[in-house]
Amino acid sequence: MALLPLFFLALLSWAPVESLGHKALYVLGDSLADVGNNNYLSTLLKANFPYNGVDFAGGKATGRFSNGKNAADFLGPPRCLFIFSLSLPPSHSVFNGCHVGNLSAEKLGFASPPPYLAITSTTNKSYAFFQGVNFASGGAGILDSTNKGKCLSFNKQIVYFSKAYKAMVGQAGSCQTQEHLAKSVFAIFIGSNDIFGHLQESKASPQQFVTSLTSTFRKQLTRMYKLGARKFVVVGTGALGCCPSLRSQNRSGDCNVWANSVSDLYNQAAASLLREMKTQLGDMNYSFFNTYLAFLELILRPEKYGFTEVKAACCGLGDLNAEVACTPFSSHCRNRKDHVFWDYYHPTEATVKLLVAEMVDGTAPLVYPVNAKRLSAL
Ligand SMILES: *[C@@H]1O[C@H](CO)[C@@H](O)[C@H](O)[C@H]1NC(C)=O
Ligand SMILES: *[C@@H]1O[C@H](CO)[C@@H](O)[C@H](O)[C@H]1NC(C)=O
Ligand SMILES: *[C@@H]1O[C@H](CO)[C@@H](O)[C@H](O)[C@H]1NC(C)=O
Ligand SMILES: *[C@@H]1O[C@H](CO)[C@@H](O)[C@H](O)[C@H]1NC(C)=O
Repeated sequence: MALLPLFFLALLSWAPVESLGHKALYVLGDSLADVGNNNYLSTLLKANFPYNGVDFAGGKATGRFSNGKNAADFLGPPRCLFIFSLSLPPSHSVFNGCHVGNLSAEKLGFASPPPYLAITSTTNKSYAFFQGVNFASGGAGILDSTNKGKCLSFNKQIVYFSKAYKAMVGQAGSCQTQEHLAKSVFAIFIGSNDIFGHLQESKASPQQFVTSLTSTFRKQLTRMYKLGARKFVVVGTGALGCCPSLRSQNRSGDCNVWANSVSDLYNQAAASLLREMKTQLGDMNYSFFNTYLAFLELILRPEKYGFTEVKAACCGLGDLNAEVACTPFSSHCRNRKDHVFWDYYHPTEATVKLLVAEMVDGTAPLVYPVNAKRLSAL
């Protein structure tokens, strides 16, 4: 035990040099990747209460819309602003809702970055920005109109990234900042809420809707490029029509056809948008994950991946457990590893773990032109 304080100090004094020179992970997007930004907003779109987090370190609800870790965590395990002990067992190493990760679960060699709104409430922000930031916010969409006023829209997240950028330039100069950002990975999980939002009121054809969505997305990615982002992991939308919420709205319990076809088209359109941007910009690189195809594979052949329940949510109430959100008043299942879905919209940790493994190490047609691991190593 006497060695611990020394070790702690050694880590702190060694960290700045290490991290300024090295790349980090930046995450933008929606509830698939939110690690607590919405905890700082006055919104109903929150998950910082049970049974969310029932399988997270210490059983703690951190604001993740999941029973455990989410996609941002599987790209890199949860990390704290302060590492206080690596000698305690994982279940004890919880600090401020933050978990010193099981390093063997690490995928890209990054730590899961803390929420932007947690960093800005600390001093010495510009230093923390170099370690990676998570801007994702539950409910967010490509369109500002998606869940307007209830979350940080994707545009707002990019505004926050530009603030972080300015602070980093203030600390390290623009040359070092740009060098750092060019090496770093920007993981983007967006689009699902736009499709859900449009479902009710859509008069446009799927193709028209997707075209307008991707033209906005192009401007947003270009803005990130201008702020120094060079390596993009873009995660497509899943088979949204098969989420418990939409299934429960169909009398037969089958998938919503419109939502699935829009999602399929969106994945194709996002992939060609990236291909085009790459030919125009040259020095940007990307890894695109076709979540629609990957999700469909899970739903069509669940037994191959160890799932027994693809329709019903684990946590919720009503038909398919999908008529009410996961709250302390909902019921929740014990066999969470068998369920594809945690609540009426969100996948379980088990599902996300599988999908991220594919994103990181997989091959075409699910992930292309390179997987996230190869992108990160560029
Ligand atoms: C760490 O993760 C690996 C792989 O996911 C798992 O097999 C192992 O049991 C975990 N170790 C601890 C201490 O949680
Ligand atoms: C911020 O933190 C780093 C690492 O602890 C330290 O080197 C740096 O001097 C700090 N900057 C300020 C302004 O406190
Ligand atoms: C509901 O499911 C049926 C198949 O059982 C499908 O034909 C129909 O299009 C679905 N409804 C919607 C709104 O997608
Ligand atoms: C991206 O790929 C191109 C080759 O297509 C390469 O010249 C460039 O340096 C790469 N950029 C980064 C940041 O690795």
